[in-house]
Amino acid sequence: MVQQVAKESVGTKGNHKRTTIFTYTHTKRTGFRFILYAEGKDIEEDIRSLQLDSAEENNGVVNPGDARPEEVEVVDKMEEDSEEVQAVSQPVHPEPKVKHKEVSAVEDAESQQETEGNNKRHLNVVFIGHVDAGKSTTGGQILFLSGQVDDRTIQKYEKEAKDKSRESWYMAYIMDTNEEERIKGKTVEVGRAHFETETTRFTILDAPGHKSYVPNMISGASQADIGVLVISARKGEFETGFEKGGQTREHVMLAKTLGVTKLLLVVNKMDDHTVNWSKERYDEIESKMTPFLKASGYNVKKDVQFLPISGLMGLNMKTRVDKSLCPWWNGPCLFEALDRIEITPRDPNGPFRMPIIDKFKDMGTVVMGKVESGSVREGDSLLVMPNKAQVKVLAIYCDDNRVRHAGPGENLRIRLSGIEEEDILSGFVLSSVAKPVAAVTEFIAQLQILELLDNAIFTAGYKAVLHIHAVVEECEIVELLHQIDLKTKKPMKKKVLFVKNGAIVVCRIQVNNSICTEKFADFAQLGRFTLRTEGKTVAVGKVTELPTGYYVVDKDMECGYLFSILSLYHKTFTDGLLGEQPTWGIL
Ligand code: GTP
Ligand code: MG
Repeated sequence: MVQQVAKESVGTKGNHKRTTIFTYTHTKRTGFRFILYAEGKDIEEDIRSLQLDSAEENNGVVNPGDARPEEVEVVDKMEEDSEEVQAVSQPVHPEPKVKHKEVSAVEDAESQQETEGNNKRHLNVVFIGHVDAGKSTTGGQILFLSGQVDDRTIQKYEKEAKDKSRESWYMAYIMDTNEEERIKGKTVEVGRAHFETETTRFTILDAPGHKSYVPNMISGASQADIGVLVISARKGEFETGFEKGGQTREHVMLAKTLGVTKLLLVVNKMDDHTVNWSKERYDEIESKMTPFLKASGYNVKKDVQFLPISGLMGLNMKTRVDKSLCPWWNGPCLFEALDRIEITPRDPNGPFRMPIIDKFKDMGTVVMGKVESGSVREGDSLLVMPNKAQVKVLAIYCDDNRVRHAGPGENLRIRLSGIEEEDILSGFVLSSVAKPVAAVTEFIAQLQILELLDNAIFTAGYKAVLHIHAVVEECEIVELLHQIDLKTKKPMKKKVLFVKNGAIVVCRIQVNNSICTEKFADFAQLGRFTLRTEGKTVAVGKVTELPTGYYVVDKDMECGYLFSILSLYHKTFTDGLLGEQPTWGIL
């Protein structure tokens, strides 16, 4: 018996093409202007009145009492024509950016459960750290110790590892399910598995440590609430991971940027003969890591907990390490520490937001992701943004169980009607209809420049790959607005043309295709990002401003916006007005 470990990875190509119905275009370049619906209620009012279906269930944000009779008709027709509604969505690029493997739970878990029945809280925990630190071994050991994997399976893995001359890797095989991963002894795709302690249901996300797979690590960390940073105490290994260019540093910085607010720093391989549970080695690692964690933005007293373990031997994990082996350790074991971690609760009543990390066909279209805000119920109507496809929730799966309703923080698979699998890309966001997530091709952000490639200068025209929640997209810095003084944290007066490593700069960023994002101040998880060039993280940033409107209409035709909305719901209406292929957005 072994728990199904699901796998996911991200392609690094960001230059896919897709067409969205409601493109918005920058005023200066197009001559079109924005209708300022952003802060007004107009958009919400209009959509609300159109969206009567399952109104009560839809996060409580749609009020059926608001509907006017003539609009009910529109919706009824829309319901009948759900096939046609989806036909309005323009096809998107078929190349998926996220691969997902071994999701078998949806097929075999048709038994219905209510999440309400399981009162345990849920946390996503990402395992990060330098290559070979022992992330998969520790993850596998957790599954073994929590009864998810039995002895027979372990014996099978021991034999398989031996046959591949990788004897000590058998525990990692629980998480490393690919042949390629097992042969090379390196995680490539993020492994996903579940276990429970007394108080908490955990989803483990086992990230790869190798620098070639940082995009996959980013994808894993962006779904996580907390992180387990695995450091190898073995002689020389801590040093390599911690030196400049080592993934210990890069992962910490990325985790912080991606919203991993709490870290358990496990000093692993304490059993190794070069360590032998040495307090000096443990203290050395703690003292070197502490200033670095502080500099990366972690409050070491409140947000970080250090502890020694042996992932391979399973020591100080489910139960505390024996005093005869490690007399100096008086702290908790890993399971206790995980159980005790407190995180700020998310708002179950907020507008629904679930960035889509993967999708597949299975009696409809199934999307996967973590709920960042709000709740979802079977029967809800939602929007897939940025292509504004109206969809209906047919079924919700949490871990391996079908549930009727799920709240924030949950990793879900949701079966939808009203959209084809090929019309979805990872990075799209399943979103509340009444308060859809912003979809933009341009935004203002504050960036911290980390390490530019040799001889590069950071100036207008700089191109990089943007990673924001599950989005991977090429972007261009189109304007540097001002630099922030590192001492005073205030904007500097003099005009900025270029900046160097370490600088903090506010700039305008453009992407070719609409992406879903939010201001960092409103939705940290959807508003923080990293910029990478040639496989290296060059900057981290947060979105500070979005354009004031998301819809473009001809300046003489302000009602064009309303037409756009109607067209989304009723293709016949659209066809009647504009023929077979309306180019909405720019009317
Ligand atoms: P990547 O996925 O490639 O980043 O590596 P990883 O961090 O997942 O490391 P993995 O679990 O694959 O382990 C790498 C090697 O370290 C294997 O040979 C493990 O047996 C060994 N190892 C992991 N944990 C321990 C431990 O606690 N003690 C000892 N002695 N070896 C360990
Ligand atoms: Mg691994």
